[in-house]
Amino acid sequence: MTEEQKQPWKPGKRDLLFLGIIAAVVIALVLGTSERKTIPAPNDEVHRTTTSRAACMSCHGADGVSPRRATHTQVDKCFLCHAQPEGWVGDSK
Ligand code: HEC
Ligand code: HEC
Repeated sequence: MTEEQKQPWKPGKRDLLFLGIIAAVVIALVLGTSERKTIPAPNDEVHRTTTSRAACMSCHGADGVSPRRATHTQVDKCFLCHAQPEGWVGDSK
C-alpha cells in the first residue's frame, strides 16, 4: 500500500519517458531552425571566391550562364540559405 500511495508524488518511468520525449522534440526543433536546408553552393573555385550578391547574380541572374528559376526567392543574402562552400574566402556569414 505504501508503494501505491507514493506513486502520485514521484514521477514514474512513464512520466520521465514523456518528459524525455518532449525535451527531445524541443531540442530537435531548436537545432532544426539554425540548420540550412537547401542545396549548398557548389564547392568549386568560382563559388569559393565569390563574395557579393552582384557577382552571384552575374551568373545566376536571368541573363547569366546558370539562371535561377523564375520563382526563386528575391531575398538578397544568398548564404542565408545556400551554405558557403568549405574554404570560402569571404567573412563568416
Ligand atoms: C562565374 C559564374 C558563377 C558565379 C559568380 C556564381 N555561380 Fe553559382 N553556379 C554557377 C554554375 C555554372 C552552376 C551550375 C554548375 C555547378 O554545379 O557547378 C552553379 C551552381 C550553383 C548552385 C547549385 C545549383 C544546383 O542546381 O545545384 C548554387 C546554390 C549556387 N550556384 C549559388 C551561388 C551563389 C550563392 C553565388 C555567389 C556567392 C554563386 N553561385 C556565384 C556559376 C556561378
Ligand atoms: C530564402 C532562402 C534563399 C535565399 C536567400 C537564396 N536562395 Fe537560392 N534557392 C533556395 C531554394 C529553396 C532553392 C531550391 C533548391 C532545390 O531545388 O531544392 C534555391 C535554388 C537556387 C539555385 C538553383 C537553381 C534553381 O533556381 O533552383 C541557384 C543557382 C540559387 N538558388 C542561387 C541563389 C543566389 C545567387 C542567391 C542570392 C542572390 C540565392 N540563391 C538566395 C533558397 C534561397
